[in-house]
Amino acid sequence: MGSGNILEIRDLHTSFFTDSGVVHAVNGVDLDVPKGKITGLVGESGCGKSITAKSVMGLVRYPGRIESGSIRLDGQELTGLKEKELRKLCGQEVSMIFQEPMTSLNPVLKVGRQVAEALRVHRGATSKAEEKQEVIRIFEKVGIPEPEQRFTAYPHELSGGLRQRVMIAMAMIMNPKLLIADEPTTALDVTVEAQILRLMKNLCGENGMSVLIITHNMGVVAEICDEVYVMYAGRIVEKAPVFSLFDETAHPYTKGLLASIPRISGNPEYLSTIPGVVPNMKYLPTGCAFHNRCPLASEKCVREVPEMVETGEGHFCRCHLAKAQTARG
Ligand SMILES: Nc1ncnc2c1ncn2[C@@H]1O[C@H](COP(=O)(O)OP(=O)(O)O)[C@@H](O)[C@H]1O
Ligand SMILES: [Mg+2]
Repeated sequence: MGSGNILEIRDLHTSFFTDSGVVHAVNGVDLDVPKGKITGLVGESGCGKSITAKSVMGLVRYPGRIESGSIRLDGQELTGLKEKELRKLCGQEVSMIFQEPMTSLNPVLKVGRQVAEALRVHRGATSKAEEKQEVIRIFEKVGIPEPEQRFTAYPHELSGGLRQRVMIAMAMIMNPKLLIADEPTTALDVTVEAQILRLMKNLCGENGMSVLIITHNMGVVAEICDEVYVMYAGRIVEKAPVFSLFDETAHPYTKGLLASIPRISGNPEYLSTIPGVVPNMKYLPTGCAFHNRCPLASEKCVREVPEMVETGEGHFCRCHLAKAQTARG
């Protein structure tokens, strides 16, 4: 397609058909990840961020499914592919890392062996000695101290930060075009978080890799993202270059997120200043889904779903109060 985006999601709808009703987890999402850039997807817990990522990876499980929409990876349509084809394609071109690496690592295998195994699957057989050398080289690259000793460690013998570095090493071995990182630093303390984010940014710069990072933490967004999507109740409500998101915040929801403060220093939990909670997506509010928590909501917000309007260069907002950019003279 020759576009500058590694990933293009259009009007994606992913729902869970549960016994007690339909959960509209992803409700018409449009999202682009430009090549070589770090794109953020941010929003409170339960907004549909992970299900958006899982839709790309073909990881949505029964009773959930993609209902409609398009997902293109480097120009190739992924929806409608057979699971096997999707696995193959995603396996080669996309890596995903999760919040808690413990769930993705095998607890009874030494971490070095696990990474070596991934290397073998990806690059074909080489000698054990060569594999070990390569893994140690990658461990060094992702900042694991004493990589030779760490090679023979079990996952539980490593700190959370080191485990996440092992996961990043595993992801980098695949040399993916796209890395999807779902809350990769949420379980870590703030200093380790900063180190991991810096590492991801460096690796992205060195390898021309594109990153989609999912987080509920605006600090993480400020630290590494080029462009940011704000998600609320299954929809994108604001999209902007990172500086523009902070300087010219357009959506009342985003303003609320930015005003949220850390609970106590060093604690990754944030205290929301937005009254109320994310709605149950079985019973989405009418109109703008944020209207029942919005300090500025009017009658129109209860009735009509707002359209995306361009409020500035590359800055889009889904709010009836947002003012469309006027032609500049
Ligand atoms: N297996 C499931 N069955 C029913 N609902 C689900 C399932 N998985 C996720 N959901 C719902 O989908 C919505 C979005 O979830 P998720 O994408 O995990 O949110 P986020 O990652 O933003 O915290 C939530 O309302 C959640 O309850
Ligand atoms: Mg999630």
